[in-house]
Amino acid sequence: MKPCAMARAVSFVFLALGVVVMVAADSVIDELEKNGLPVGLLPSSVQSYSIGAKGDFSVSLEAPCYAKIEDQPAYYSKHITGKLKYGSISNLSGIQTKQLFVWLPVTGIYVDIPATPYIYFEVGVLTKRLSIAIFETPPRCSSHGVDTGIHVPNLAEFMTSRPRKAIQ
Ligand SMILES: *[C@@H]1O[C@H](CO)[C@@H](O)[C@H](O)[C@H]1NC(C)=O
Repeated sequence: MKPCAMARAVSFVFLALGVVVMVAADSVIDELEKNGLPVGLLPSSVQSYSIGAKGDFSVSLEAPCYAKIEDQPAYYSKHITGKLKYGSISNLSGIQTKQLFVWLPVTGIYVDIPATPYIYFEVGVLTKRLSIAIFETPPRCSSHGVDTGIHVPNLAEFMTSRPRKAIQ
């Protein structure tokens, strides 16, 4: 192969890889939007994505990462799975949030139908309500842990937390 043909072949491979990554991120975004959920629930570093007929999905990120959401540390595992339905994600695994001193799994996410300005996160035995506007864009996510110090939660937010409707 001539050097320039080689270079073209190599750049084609990179282009193809880039397209695959973009398609994966785009289809997750489409899927969230289709289900009435904000696109900023996941970091933008989605590498691959699949969803089954019953809404069971699996997302792989390029790498696990940490973000801060409303001053609360959040952790995204490389593999995130759950069940997507209109207005909700249940049986979620792979996202954690640091509450007081411990990392707790976020097991479910849902919005009101019809839509309100709020979104709800099931964290341990609590349901935390946050403004949906926070999740309009993907969180800034980095491979370094954030906020390793003592984190004092916002009491007002805890007061508005609702008990979980049902234990599964
Ligand atoms: C919940 O997710 C796990 C994987 O994390 C899966 O094995 C299990 O079948 C799921 N359960 C339901 C009820 O969808």
